[in-house]
Amino acid sequence: MHKNIKSESVLPINNHSSLLYKFSAMNNTITKQEIGLDPADWNDIKTLGYQIIDDMVDYLKNVGDRKVWTPIPQEVKNEFKKPIPRQPSDIFDVYKEFKQNVLPYPGGNIHPKHFAWVQGTGTPMGAFADLLAGIMNNNSTIADQSALYVDKQVINWCKELMNYPKDGSGILVSGGSIANITGLIVARNTIIANSKNAGVYVANGKLTAYCSAETHNCISKAAEVIGIGNEQLRKIPVNDEYQIDVEALKSKIREDKESGCIPFCIIGNAGTVNTGAIDPLDELLKIARSENIWFHIDGAFGALAKLVPTYKNKLKAIEEADSVAFDLHKWMYVQYEVGCILFKNADAHRNAFANAVNYLIAHERGLAAGPETLSNYGMELSRGFKALKVWMSIKEHGIDKYAMLIEQNIDQAFYLGEQVKKHSSLQLMADVTMNIVCYRYNPGGLDDDQLNVLNKELLMQMQETGVAAPSSTLLNGKYAIRVAITNHRTRRKHLDEMIAGTIQIGDKLVKTHEAKLFSFDVLTLINHK
Ligand SMILES: Cc1ncc(COP(=O)(O)O)c(C=O)c1O
Repeated sequence: MHKNIKSESVLPINNHSSLLYKFSAMNNTITKQEIGLDPADWNDIKTLGYQIIDDMVDYLKNVGDRKVWTPIPQEVKNEFKKPIPRQPSDIFDVYKEFKQNVLPYPGGNIHPKHFAWVQGTGTPMGAFADLLAGIMNNNSTIADQSALYVDKQVINWCKELMNYPKDGSGILVSGGSIANITGLIVARNTIIANSKNAGVYVANGKLTAYCSAETHNCISKAAEVIGIGNEQLRKIPVNDEYQIDVEALKSKIREDKESGCIPFCIIGNAGTVNTGAIDPLDELLKIARSENIWFHIDGAFGALAKLVPTYKNKLKAIEEADSVAFDLHKWMYVQYEVGCILFKNADAHRNAFANAVNYLIAHERGLAAGPETLSNYGMELSRGFKALKVWMSIKEHGIDKYAMLIEQNIDQAFYLGEQVKKHSSLQLMADVTMNIVCYRYNPGGLDDDQLNVLNKELLMQMQETGVAAPSSTLLNGKYAIRVAITNHRTRRKHLDEMIAGTIQIGDKLVKTHEAKLFSFDVLTLINHK
């Protein structure tokens, strides 16, 4: 017998489609059910939620008892190659799989002995804030909603931190890279009139920007994104302290102008990624002002050292810069991801991004009233509620505590530098100036190539055995174990353990691999070159 289907909807894509249809014997019809993604039983969500909170609080509480990093077994990696599931799974099973295959294998940056790259630790409250933001699931761009007021307040607090004027502007973005790119977009659009519409072609010459050779590669990406091209980003040599050579900068600007280029931006570092060096920002500011060009500062982590009394003056020029980029997920220990870019000139910021579009028109009342859409201040339209974790974290601890923690990390770095100097088999590779320490194991009698091989192996063994997790860099071609401390869980004992572990592994490597090290074809092992 023919049965009528009452409502039409998308075609079912799985063989659970039978669940979508309800047969009524009374009038002999089949009705298509409407579906959603909420649980059939909310009590299951509560049970799972309580379980997750219990497990995760224990997980965080005991973080220091686990190894800082655990390699992922191949069979676990294989799990991530499986195709997309067509069928539903029980939520408890999904969580079980997370606990089995995901949770045990993190990068380790919440651990007190993680010092790799520049990674923040996060806090329990930051994690809760992410959960709450996830539940509210705001699109924090538009609408008269609390999230936009929180966002604005956090930007105002960021301005206070950097001593930017109240009428300055800024936006929270995913991190330092996008913050820097946003800064350079505004710089280009402001200095080169009409380049927003006409592109870089409007300029009567090649646009050039300037930074030190030690600058983070996100600035190169920014040069690519804004259309000047990486080749027009002049990477100026550095001095022995890894700071930009100011005389070389001046002469490069001169040379460029003489050859018809148009210098439009200088990028200064408040803490370079390799060694934490602070460029002579005051001098860069002076040059920028005399050349009438934009002065941007990449302070991804270092700008926040401004909170520490002894760094306030060194970083004073930030207050005068046209823009500064810094991360809250690094040295403010807030959960990933959140970075900030501030601008002195709010109009310049807005003009670089604002476009009137019919579907975003503000109204006098209703949902579309309230703060201006944040899409007028950056590349993104949809945005998560990243301000909440900053807001809740700063409220929980107060900014003075952050200042103390940043100072503590700096003190720890200087302490580590001193410990390195005390051991004859260790060598400090760069002066400690902030929170980064570069050192290597150097027992004597080995050349640089051999030391490079030895220290690379040493670092990998430190990470694999759980001694600690620093990362590496090359300084003038020399491999360095690089320790960046943006970690509120680190104590001096962790640094002592790392030093002891370095020496122990280094000594063992030299003993057991002596013959190999001395006869090594270094080029086969050093892929950093
Ligand atoms: C100096 C500097 N600038 C920019 C960045 C990029 O920041 P993010 O990783 O948040 O994009 C980093 C990252 O470590 C950095 O150290």
